[in-house]
Amino acid sequence: MIKKIKYIPLLILLNSCQSPEKVKLEQYYIGGKEIFEQNCANCHQKDGKGLQNLYPPIVGSDYLKDKSAVILAIKNGLAGEIKVNGKTYNQPMPANSHLQSLDIAEVVTYIYSEWSNERKITTVEEVEKILNKK
Ligand code: HEC
Repeated sequence: MIKKIKYIPLLILLNSCQSPEKVKLEQYYIGGKEIFEQNCANCHQKDGKGLQNLYPPIVGSDYLKDKSAVILAIKNGLAGEIKVNGKTYNQPMPANSHLQSLDIAEVVTYIYSEWSNERKITTVEEVEKILNKK
């Protein structure tokens, strides 16, 4: 019991100075960062800048303009030539079939808020709508 009490002030602090949306955004961001570091950073690097001609950058990538394409690429992988900020890449990106819709929503929220200046959540509903489109 005593142990649990320690967390109460933190919760009060989080809830008192932030709206519920902001708290949720923070949760998605933190979860998404972890998912990115475990599943993506090997290639795209922790700082999202990619690796030479092999792995394209996420930072400032013009590919992010099409969020549906990003969600599909994360889930199903990507193959064939693509252009990112005018530079050509042509290496396969593996599928992430183990990632659930919530994981994808979090990692997309993370990359867009960290590297594309977006300050809102990509929701699970948005992700599922895109993945379920035939
Ligand atoms: C094994 C290496 C590898 C891993 C792991 C990987 N990617 Fe990729 N990713 C690539 C490659 C290579 C491309 C370019 C694909 C092509 O040439 O068709 C790419 C393309 C992309 C693109 C579109 C281009 C751009 O840079 O904006 C995004 C967005 C992306 N990856 C995000 C992710 C995310 C998020 C994860 C983790 C869930 C991830 N990738 C995991 C190698 C990887």
